[in-house]
This record gives sequence, structure tokens and C-alpha cells, in this order.
Amino acid sequence: MLEQFKELAAAYCPESATLSRGSTVERRLSQLRDVFGDPAAVDLLLERDDPVLYRVMAIEPADGPGDLHLGLGILYPGKVGGEYFLTKGHLHTTREAAEVYIGLAGDGVMLLEDEAGGNVRMEPLGSGKLVYVPGHTAHRTINTGSEPLTYFGVYPANAGHDYGAIAERNFTHVVIEIDGQPTLRKRKDVFPNG
Ligand SMILES: [Fe+2]
Repeated sequence: MLEQFKELAAAYCPESATLSRGSTVERRLSQLRDVFGDPAAVDLLLERDDPVLYRVMAIEPADGPGDLHLGLGILYPGKVGGEYFLTKGHLHTTREAAEVYIGLAGDGVMLLEDEAGGNVRMEPLGSGKLVYVPGHTAHRTINTGSEPLTYFGVYPANAGHDYGAIAERNFTHVVIEIDGQPTLRKRKDVFPNG
């Protein structure tokens, strides 16, 4: 396992923010239309372009009890309808599975909401920042800067990704720019119809 992780670290190219091995998932703006609070603003942007918002590359070397998987996320900068570009976000299929995010480059935040929706917070995720995501916590990454936000995520091999629960109800809060700063607000206060 250690050797495989060392190989992964060696495969990471900071200049291009890519891995030379591992599987890649790519998400475009059109695939996140209903994730944003202002889908009409998304449609306007889509008339001109359908940019890639993020790529995730995963290295999943072993599936045994206690094994770890590792993902590299690259989230590109931009805004639509007042919201920063963001990832879909997910809960882990194995709800108690935690995760550690390690910021490599760029500026951003993570939006964390416990499954019950009672504990909501925004934590900085950028170069040199570390975020611990406890179990039972929905997590989404948001690029608040002008460069690609790049990060590693380390998670138990049995964590799994449940996107459906988030797709159904979305996060209860959004991060928007107020006075030049990323600011956490209730979704219904910013997007009454979103
Ligand atoms: Fe995760």
C-alpha cells in the first residue's frame, strides 16, 4: 500500500494538475445545472460554453478491511448566478466513513453539513490546508480563487460515494462572495426558488 501511494505521489504533476495514472471522472457545467441555485443563469452560460468544472482521479489500490483509497480533485475557477464553481458533493455510502482532504494548490473552501443538517460549516481548503470530514457528513468543494483548486482526498476503501441523497435535497447552505469574501448563507435566503 505504501509503495502504491508513493507511486501516486510520483505520478502527480503540479504544473498540469494531473495524474499520469488512475481513473478520471470529468464533470461539465451542464451536468451540474440543477446543483446551482440559479439554473437560469446556468442556461445563459451554457448558450456560450459548457466548461469542465472539475476532474477527479482516483487510485484504489486494494479493497480489504483497513485499506485506503486516494483521489486527486481539480476544480476550476469560475462563477455562475453568484455562486462559485463547486463539486456535486456527496455522503459516503458507508456513512460512518471519514475522509481527510489535503489542499495542494489554489484557494477554496469545503462545505460540510452533517446528515441531519444541524451542523453546517465552511472550512478553508487551499494550498497547505487540511480538512477532516467526519462520518455522516455531506461534503462539497468550492473554488473561491482564480486558479485551479487542487487537493487530495484520502478515504477508507469501503467508504463508497452516495451522490443521490445530495441530488435529492442539495445542501441547505451556499457559499457566495460578499464584500470580496466567501460567505456562508442559508440557501433559501439567497435563492428562495433554488
Ligand atoms: Fe468523500
